[in-house]
Amino acid sequence: MPRIIFRDADGGIREVNVDAGRSVMLGATMNGVPGIDADCGGTLSCATCHVYVDEAWADRIPPVDEVENDLLENVACERAANSRLSCQILVTEDLDGITVDIPERQY
Ligand code: FES
Repeated sequence: MPRIIFRDADGGIREVNVDAGRSVMLGATMNGVPGIDADCGGTLSCATCHVYVDEAWADRIPPVDEVENDLLENVACERAANSRLSCQILVTEDLDGITVDIPERQY
């Protein structure tokens, strides 16, 4: 079961295991990782599941599509080149160990 590493804005680290096929967002919400609100439940309409993907992993996930790109324009914290909506990152065995930073806030 792939492992996801979440780093919060204070430097705290949480590691969770998630079934392949689930999203990074679900990895957080199902395991009580704070800081990812995911108000829309993963239907790509809220932008409150924003994360910064560690540079080492950025090339291993599919690129941002048009809808995600539009929503990323409305995230609460500054958008960066490695900004993603975590509901759009599906976990695979190849992503075992993927590391993401949680922004200070989602609103
Ligand atoms: Fe709403 Fe990701 S959970 S856009």
